Amino acid sequence: MKISVFGTGYVGLVVGACLAENGNRVIAVDIDEDKIARLKRGEIPIYEPGLSELVARNVAEERLSFTTDFDRAVVSSKILFVAVGTPQGEDGSADMSHVLAVAKGIGRAMNERKIVVLKSTVPVGTNRKVKETIASATEYSVGVVSNPEFLKEGAAIDDFLRPDRVVIGAEEPETAEVMEELYRPFVRTGNPILVMDPESAELTKYAANAMLASRISFMNEIARLCEKVGADVSQVRRAVGSDRRIGHAFLFPGVGYGGSCFPKDIRALARTARAAGLELKIVEATETVNEEQKLFLLSKIRQHFGEDLMGKTVALWGLAFKPRTDDMRDAPALSLIRGLVREGARVRAYDPEATKEARTQLNDVDDHVTYCRKSYEACDGADALVLVTEWNEFREPDFDRIRKLLRHPVVFDGRNIYNPETLKELGFAYFGIGRG
Ligand SMILES: NC(=O)c1ccc[n+]([C@@H]2O[C@H](COP(=O)([O-])OP(=O)(O)OC[C@H]3O[C@@H](n4cnc5c(N)ncnc54)[C@H](O)[C@@H]3O)[C@@H](O)[C@H]2O)c1
Repeated sequence: MKISVFGTGYVGLVVGACLAENGNRVIAVDIDEDKIARLKRGEIPIYEPGLSELVARNVAEERLSFTTDFDRAVVSSKILFVAVGTPQGEDGSADMSHVLAVAKGIGRAMNERKIVVLKSTVPVGTNRKVKETIASATEYSVGVVSNPEFLKEGAAIDDFLRPDRVVIGAEEPETAEVMEELYRPFVRTGNPILVMDPESAELTKYAANAMLASRISFMNEIARLCEKVGADVSQVRRAVGSDRRIGHAFLFPGVGYGGSCFPKDIRALARTARAAGLELKIVEATETVNEEQKLFLLSKIRQHFGEDLMGKTVALWGLAFKPRTDDMRDAPALSLIRGLVREGARVRAYDPEATKEARTQLNDVDDHVTYCRKSYEACDGADALVLVTEWNEFREPDFDRIRKLLRHPVVFDGRNIYNPETLKELGFAYFGIGRG
């Protein structure tokens, strides 16, 4: 099939490359000229495992190309995927300006009937709004499909090539059929393609993210209770997750969730509900708990060193909101670093991939943060080590070396990846989340 994908970010680039991998001819479009120029030179603007090989292969096979020529991308393809950003607007709702700008552009440029596929995460009612926007600019008919994306950064390619389910929200059966044909090769193992009305498809994405985020906030609250009553959250988590009705995923307590999706989607869902006259209490509490959790480690650090962190230096491992990505959007490390700096501390930070992005986002506290090239370099002369993101390379470090480099042998483990007993035997003061 001939497909154009509008937006070449974390989602658009993966979607475009994976659709090309399956034999489709894909044009990937962006308004960011610099991004397209880099992609044309073979550079991948983001870190996502396996993506650069996938893009290179499909460009070489002439199935995937990049352009800033919006109109040509509309005219050249029958199926138009919209994967532009829907960031948080000022009032917490999703900012729809990019999606609607693309819709308007498609309406103006189209030369025949098209199918427009909404991959971006968009509030209920957007399918209808996009259809109206396109219809007001053209005489040709259009089928608009709500096809939310469930991929995870860090495992995005595998998630797209082997999805747990594909959700297709379409009013017209013939449009849904084209989508089913497009996705059939991705669900050979029997995972379902779920065809439904557009509103249900739109809401599914928000409900799924809110469910996952609420499990995290729930477990973070249980972790806090564990500390108060002398329980170990790791034991509790394992035992709770062993119940097949519950399962183990998304039950890990930590420094709070972040990233480009959960925070903004949870807020947008709460806004949608309030606009419909409903208060989603669990969803709103999920966010409140998360905001508190992002500063939980800071309160532990203050408890240990006393209220004043003036003159203290903290080594911080992991900046990205999770491992295997360079995405710093709403990353808990941002709140923690700003909190530490506010209390008078300096930070020596290290991340395998996200340093460049972190530097940009943290320019307000630049004077107080040193970005290190190596993990151990960050520990040199620091008063404590704080683990924020559980990259694999942090899992089995050389603790003797760390103890020699630190001024005080103290570890704050924001992901509970270290064994408290082992660290105590090695002479460290250890502080995890919800245990010891
Ligand atoms: N990142 C994720 O893990 C993830 C997962 C599932 C769904 N989503 C959703 O997918 C959407 C995209 O997310 P993302 O993380 O890829 O965003 P992103 O910010 O990485 O990329 C968006 C891209 O769209 C481009 N763009 C903006 N306006 C444009 C226009 N008029 N024409 C062409 N390109 C334009 C931007 O330049 C940018 O390159 C969002 O709605 C997000 O909520 C994201």
